[in-house]
Amino acid sequence: MTSAALAALSQMPQIDLRTVFRTDPVRLSKYVLSHGPIRFDWSKTHLTDAVVAGFLDLADERGFATRRDALFAGEAVNVTEGRAAEHPAERGEGHPESVARAKILHQRMRALIDAIEAEALGPVRHILHIGIGGSALGPELIVDALDGDGARYDVAIVSNVDGVALERVMDRFDPAATLIAIASKTFTTTETMLNAASAINWMIEAGVDDPYGRVVALTAAPERAMEWGVDETRVLPFSESVGGRYSLWSSIGFPAALALGWDAFESLLEGAATMDRHFRLSDPRENAPLIAAFVDQYYAQVMKCQTRAVFAYDERLALLPSYLQQLEMESNGKGVTLDGAAVTGMTAPITWGGVGTDAQHAVFQLLHQGTVLTPVEFIASREPGHALDPAHHRALLVNCFAQGAALMQGRGNDADPARAYPGGRPSTTILLDDVTPHALGALIAFYEHRTFANAVLMGINPFDQFGVELGKEIARSIGAAGAKGFDPSTTALIDIALGAA
Ligand code: F6P
Repeated sequence: MTSAALAALSQMPQIDLRTVFRTDPVRLSKYVLSHGPIRFDWSKTHLTDAVVAGFLDLADERGFATRRDALFAGEAVNVTEGRAAEHPAERGEGHPESVARAKILHQRMRALIDAIEAEALGPVRHILHIGIGGSALGPELIVDALDGDGARYDVAIVSNVDGVALERVMDRFDPAATLIAIASKTFTTTETMLNAASAINWMIEAGVDDPYGRVVALTAAPERAMEWGVDETRVLPFSESVGGRYSLWSSIGFPAALALGWDAFESLLEGAATMDRHFRLSDPRENAPLIAAFVDQYYAQVMKCQTRAVFAYDERLALLPSYLQQLEMESNGKGVTLDGAAVTGMTAPITWGGVGTDAQHAVFQLLHQGTVLTPVEFIASREPGHALDPAHHRALLVNCFAQGAALMQGRGNDADPARAYPGGRPSTTILLDDVTPHALGALIAFYEHRTFANAVLMGINPFDQFGVELGKEIARSIGAAGAKGFDPSTTALIDIALGAA
C-alpha cells in the first residue's frame, strides 16, 4: 500500500536530539501526556509538530477512526479469520452483548474461585498453571508483578514442553495440595496437552484422591476440555473472539485472580477499561496509544530501525519485555496488507529488552556507541515495590533517567574517539505512580491499543498468526513419520538425535 503521507514524512528534515530542547523550549509540554497513574514522555524522540501532523494524515489515509470504531463495535476486524477481536469487552468496553457475555463468564470464574477458597476442591496451596504463549505470558506477568509478600498461593506457570520445566515444579509442589489449571484457547496445543497429561499422571502416581477433580480448564473450546476429562463445573470458558495474546482478561487470568484475589483482578480490568475509553474517545493528538504508534512508525518506516528495546526499571515488571515480544511480534510481524498484497515497507521491528539496572552492565554499550540505532523505552515507577532503604529506589530511578539523558546528549571526545558518545539517540520514558493492579491494567491495555494502532498505520491485520503454523505442521509430520522427505541437514539431525525412522 503506497502512502502519500508516509512519503512526505520520509522527506521531512530530522531534528538533532542533542539540541532540541534549546531550539524548542516548550517541547516538554508538547510531548508529555498523563493518563491516570501513567505519564508518557516522548520529548526525547524525534517527534515534531510536522511529524505528528504527517502521522495524523497517515492515520486518516488508513481509516484509523473507522477501524478503531469497528474494533470496539465487535466487528470482524480479524479479516483473515472472519472474527472480531473482543478483548476490550472483557473489560466492559465493546458490543453490549459481548460485554454481557464476558460478565457472566467472569461471574462463573469468581464463583469457582470462591469455592476453591472455601476448600471445596480440598486444600490448595499450589497452583500449577499449564499453558503457552498467550495462555501463559499474561498471567505470568501479572502474578509476578503483583504477587508480593503474603502471597495466598504458590503459583508456577509451566509452558515449555521440555520436561525440565514441569519436573522442577513437581519437585517443589505437594501433589495433594496442588490445583492444576490447563490454559489453552484451542485445547489442542501439543506442549500444553503433553504437560497436562504428565501433571495428571504425577498426581495419580502420588495417590492423590480424584486427581481430575483438582483440574480447572481455561479455554474457548469447553467441549474439548470435557472430553479430556475436566468436569463441566470446572471448565471456565471464554469467547472465541478473544485472541490468545489478548486473553489475560478472560478466564486465562484465573491464576492471577485466584492468587491476588478477586478485587485485584477487577481493579486490573478497570484500569484497562480506563485506557480503552481513552483510546476510543480521545482526540488523536492526545491519544497515548496512537502517539506511541507514531513514534514506533517513525523509527521503523522513516529511520528503518529493525529493533526496539524495552527496559523495565522495576523488578516487578521484569517479565514485561517478554510479554511485549509476543504481543508486538506475533501481532504485527506480518508480510501482507489487509487486502493480501505484499507489504512494501517494514512491519513490526524486533522487540527486545530486559530489566534495569542489570541491562546497563550488559547490553547498553551497544545502545550508546554501537552503529545500530535502537529506539529505547524505559518503564519505571515512582513508588518502590519494597520496604528496604529508599536508597535502592532512588538509585534505580537515578540510573533510569541518566540513561535517557546520556543517550540523548552524548559527549564528544576528539582526543579519544573510543571514549566519545555520539548522542542523538531517542528514548521514551513511561513513569507509573506505582505498580498497582489498576495501573498495570491500564499499561497493558495501552500496549494492546498501541499495537493495534501500529497495525492500522501499516494497513495490516494484527489479530491472526498464521506464521506459527508451518513449523507446527512439520513437527507433526516428523513426529508421525520421522525423517521422510526433508533436506539433508534436517534428515541428519533427526537421525542423529531421534534415531532413524
Ligand atoms: O502458536 C501460537 C499460539 O497459537 C499463540 O497465538 C497462542 O497464544 C498460543 O499458541 C497458545 O495457544 P492455545 O491457547 O490455543 O493453547
